[in-house]
Amino acid sequence: MARARGVRLLALESVDSTNDEARRLIEAGERGPLWVVAARQTRGHGRLGREWISPHGNLHASLVLGNFGEAAVAPQLGFVAGVAAMRGLRAATGDAGRFALKWPNDLLLDGAKLGGILLENVGVPTGDARAPRASVAIIGLGVNCAEAPRDLPFEACALASIGPNAPDAATLFTHLSDALLDTLDLWRGGEGFAPIRDAWLADAAYLGAHIRVELPRETVEGRFATIDAIGRLVLATRDGERVIEAGDVSLGPRQTTAGGVA
Ligand code: BTN
Repeated sequence: MARARGVRLLALESVDSTNDEARRLIEAGERGPLWVVAARQTRGHGRLGREWISPHGNLHASLVLGNFGEAAVAPQLGFVAGVAAMRGLRAATGDAGRFALKWPNDLLLDGAKLGGILLENVGVPTGDARAPRASVAIIGLGVNCAEAPRDLPFEACALASIGPNAPDAATLFTHLSDALLDTLDLWRGGEGFAPIRDAWLADAAYLGAHIRVELPRETVEGRFATIDAIGRLVLATRDGERVIEAGDVSLGPRQTTAGGVA
């Protein structure tokens, strides 16, 4: 149980965003480990500032984590959280094969978006002249337990679709928070990123498949070869290898308006 292992919990009925509340707490001196959980969010957000629809019944949780290691390894925490989410979802549902991870931070159920991870970092003063700044991480997790948003440009789903034995948000949170602590122990501030990367790749959607990645100014296509030692996507393109830090992944070559392949 995460609480028995020294992780505190702030449970709220409603908040704008658990990530934003975590940021405010960090700015007021909080260093964690602390979970901020809310039954609903009024201004939940996802990657790239997108809205995250957050009704009652879904899981909205953010872990404040200081002293995790060097600031440079902070981006690896998204992969740590992804691996933990797979473990937590499997433990909570008893279902091994239906969940997958989509680079960089999506959680899939039967190929549709079930949830996502929003990793943020807040720079804080340390009071130590030799290392005046440190980084406190916010690991935000959203899972559509009860309800999936409609009218999105991609397919989304809810955990409730697996049937009457689907765990509710509170049960899922218990499993996820335990799994995250175990996975952080494995990661050891970045020293254990190799097994995390292996575990992430074992659950990666589209690995080896032809994908397209939308970047701010272009769309690139190729075979999803792997993720590198720091979690960037490695794409084997016609022009050679391309290493990508951030982007939106979808399966298959670009379709032309005539329905053909570009
Ligand atoms: C994504 O897929 O774009 C990431 C979604 C992350 C949503 C969670 S819900 C809890 C936390 N609070 C937020 O406002 N966002 C994250």
